[in-house]
Amino acid sequence: MTKLVVKGRRRLHGETTVQGAKNSALPILAAALLTGGENVFFNCPHLSDVEASCAILRYLGGTAKREDSALLVDCTGVDRWKIPDELMRKTRSSIVFLGAVLARTGRARLSLPGGCEIGMRPIDLHLRALRAMGAAISERHGYLDCKAPHGLHGAKITLSFPSVGATEDIMIAASTADGTTTISNAAREPEIGDLAAYLNKCGAKIYGAGEGVVVIDGVPSLSAAAHTMIPDRIVAATLLSCAAATGSELVLRGAVSAHLGAVISVLEEGGCRFACDGGDLRITAPERLKSLRVIRTMPYPGFPTDAQAPVMAAAATADGTSVMIENIFENRYRHVPALCRMGAQIRTEGKVAVIEGTRHLYGAKVEATDLRGAAALVTAALAAEGTGEITGVHYLERGYDGLEQTLTALGADVKKI
Ligand code: UD1
Repeated sequence: MTKLVVKGRRRLHGETTVQGAKNSALPILAAALLTGGENVFFNCPHLSDVEASCAILRYLGGTAKREDSALLVDCTGVDRWKIPDELMRKTRSSIVFLGAVLARTGRARLSLPGGCEIGMRPIDLHLRALRAMGAAISERHGYLDCKAPHGLHGAKITLSFPSVGATEDIMIAASTADGTTTISNAAREPEIGDLAAYLNKCGAKIYGAGEGVVVIDGVPSLSAAAHTMIPDRIVAATLLSCAAATGSELVLRGAVSAHLGAVISVLEEGGCRFACDGGDLRITAPERLKSLRVIRTMPYPGFPTDAQAPVMAAAATADGTSVMIENIFENRYRHVPALCRMGAQIRTEGKVAVIEGTRHLYGAKVEATDLRGAAALVTAALAAEGTGEITGVHYLERGYDGLEQTLTALGADVKKI
């Protein structure tokens, strides 16, 4: 069993470059299905979730291979429309392939994703939108069977919640649909803008991505393009949490501070100072963090649910009481028992977590149960006295490209065994 062994209580120092965004890479790889020719992707992180998306592309008849620092993806030969269950299950975000496969082949059959570690994760918004665009979708025996024999057409879609995945799924499907699609109450996450930037390079006509209303004028076909993924703001938020928990000074190269506004303002409240210099973001954390008061997770530009767990680990070391309210996913406090095992004083009730900061976290044997929860345990272990052992490392590998090497280079004592 792989585990991370962390010797805590070391200050971090130095500079590190933030990896490319997982949440950009996954929808962009799905969107590549609609293109002919060879796409060249730069800054695409080495992650098991990215590998799972590449495996789906290969299964459907495309190619995906790494060459030097680039990921080359060619979907010219795609001719399949069924995605097997074992490939669908590898990453929850595989549902974003639904619109892409349907738009590309006029058919799609894939297994219903169901719930996962952090909650139910329904897909009703995806299905309602694709039906409005002309798809006939039946749900039977745990499978989705979708047909659009005459292609998809534009539609006016209002999302009842600004779902990131649904916004992306619709944008991809609408890119080659007949006519204009309007998405109101669209998600505004930076990764939506990155997906649109890529699709527009391929010849799509997408306007307003990153705003509440996105308009997509369908075009007959798309051709491959070169694209560099934006830096991962959640990895950046995790490294900022590590610095905040250990009283460290770090420089994150390539971090886009504008994407981190809500996280920066929370950590500023805790006494961290920030300086932006070109593409660098410097954090100088106080000896001991002050309490972070009340943090509410919200759709972007609000505080990201994905940063809740690592920031909570930092709050667990703070002087005073912080409160978190998780508004996006219903089951996102699974890291709390492991943090408490390390000495954190956290109580949860429903959406609310009350974190009474303590000076003394202790290294312990703990198990990660989801991706960002794993990042929280690493953050806490860095701040803790003694040696901590974290199992469930495969969760970390879904979203962090070599986190232990990054932290080691910054002065931490982290070993993967
Ligand atoms: C994406 C991110 C994930 C992040 C989340 C919220 C990717 C690959 N993943 O996930 O890291 O935590 O955004 O920022 O980009 N919902 C519905 N019906 C739907 C779809 C969603 O009710 O059809 C609900 C969900 O249950 C959840 C909320 O909407 O409560 C947000 O989900 P959504 O924005 O869709 O998250 P994902 O795209 O799955």
